[in-house]
Amino acid sequence: MNRDIVCIGAGYIGGPTMAVIAKMNPDRKVIVVDINAERIAAWNSEDYSIPIYEPGLVDVVKEVRGRNLFFSTDIKGTVQQCDIVFVGVNTPTKMFGRGSGRASDLQYWEATARSIKEYANGDKVVVEKSTLPVRTAAAMEAILNDHASYSFTVLSNPEFLAEGTAIKDLLEPDRVLIGGPETEEGHRALEAVVDVYAAWVPRERILTTNVWSAELTKLAANAFLAQRVSSINAIAGLCEATGADVDEVARVVGADRRIGPKFLKAGPGFGGSCFKKDVLNLVYLCETFGLHTAAEYWMGVIKMNQHQQERIVSRLFSAMFNTLANKKIALFGFAFKADTGDTRETPAATVARLLAEEHVRVTVTDPKALDNARRDLADLSGVVYEADEYKAAEGADAIVLMTDWRHYPTLDWRKIYDSMRKPALVFDTRNCLDAAELKQIGFRVLNVGK
Ligand code: NAD
Ligand code: UGA
Repeated sequence: MNRDIVCIGAGYIGGPTMAVIAKMNPDRKVIVVDINAERIAAWNSEDYSIPIYEPGLVDVVKEVRGRNLFFSTDIKGTVQQCDIVFVGVNTPTKMFGRGSGRASDLQYWEATARSIKEYANGDKVVVEKSTLPVRTAAAMEAILNDHASYSFTVLSNPEFLAEGTAIKDLLEPDRVLIGGPETEEGHRALEAVVDVYAAWVPRERILTTNVWSAELTKLAANAFLAQRVSSINAIAGLCEATGADVDEVARVVGADRRIGPKFLKAGPGFGGSCFKKDVLNLVYLCETFGLHTAAEYWMGVIKMNQHQQERIVSRLFSAMFNTLANKKIALFGFAFKADTGDTRETPAATVARLLAEEHVRVTVTDPKALDNARRDLADLSGVVYEADEYKAAEGADAIVLMTDWRHYPTLDWRKIYDSMRKPALVFDTRNCLDAAELKQIGFRVLNVGK
């Protein structure tokens, strides 16, 4: 087996993961391929205008691109060149037919498996990097191994990085998970992939399991994280009704070492491409296996999340004298979290749409996600996109802070206040601004869970 690696799929997962693998394995050639030629051209661009924004990523790409990291559209040639094939293509929620709105749409994955089979010129280890339903590896093996000459071993190596901290997460992972079949070939393949990570990850953090456990663990891990966010948001509503403060409650609840402090920040609800998709996938799996109460339990996590955005608009409505029509509201932040330009499933889009239904004049500002916002809200007429926060706030009746961009607390809020229509309101859905200071300036202030 040669040591070269190809990754099919040059997206949020394929690009950063392979860049770090190449950085830490200078003796291996790592090639990232995609059917999207525009994306590959961006990864190869001379001025490093790479297709995703991720802190620290461009520095890694500068270090390794052309050394042992390559981006290409030649899927056939690279599959033939490498014995280890990672697959990191997209697996969105299926929006048609059986399992619509819940199951994973596996068409891109299956197309990839078929290309690997068509192009293979020898035995291959195929590594699932995408998040997939349990037992996908079995289906893939069935497709791949219907081949006269070569044999294929499918492993599961789900990725746990979070956007915005991808490079740090990749360089210092809590754990790397690799699931493999319990056969001799399976063990050999597993060791080959363990070897890739062992170049920098301490061996005790590389956890190996059977394939089905690895596939299910990824869905379970995301479901647990999403559930914590929905749990604290459910408590936030109760805080608003009772005079408790959700940040205080979270601080003390999280001080219990059995619970821990992370993922207890109340806010506008979780966004991002994966939490909703993966929890829905879990719901679908539970339903498929007749576990209806478990399915309902996980569905509650999604319902609570949707409710959170509806509540933001309801509270604005009440605070702004029960009419929003023709008022100007500026959304500060459109990305689903800070330090990313990604807007997939962002709560800000839902809030923008709910406000547009109320005939609000919506202005959106974001330091990294304005182009994506323009694309996502293209069907809404009248939305204004403004890179400069001060201009976005001019004449506004309210600002709704949707993303916790680090520089927002350091803006000149007095200047912003002076340019707004009075009474001026700030709804800080991330509880990241200094509410006492804002009130002193003259703002009316709303927070989540207070
Ligand atoms: P993405 O949409 O950013 O990238 C997927 C890429 O695959 C696209 O560039 C697409 O053109 C390419 N592709 C699709 N079909 C192809 C084919 N047949 N041949 C070659 N290329 C093809 O998606 P992503 O965010 O990178 O997610 C990929 C997978 O990783 C998903 O299963 C997701 O759940 C999982 N994941 C994502 C993250 C994250 O932070 N985004 C984290 C962990 C896991
Ligand atoms: C998440 C997981 O954290 C990763 O481990 C996983 O690999 C990834 O999904 C995936 O499978 O795609 P990501 O979605 O990039 O990563 O970002 P998170 O930091 O998990 O945030 C998700 C959402 O929850 C954001 O909208 C964030 O603002 C929100 N959140 C997070 C809260 O509202 N409160 C919190 O306390 C934490």
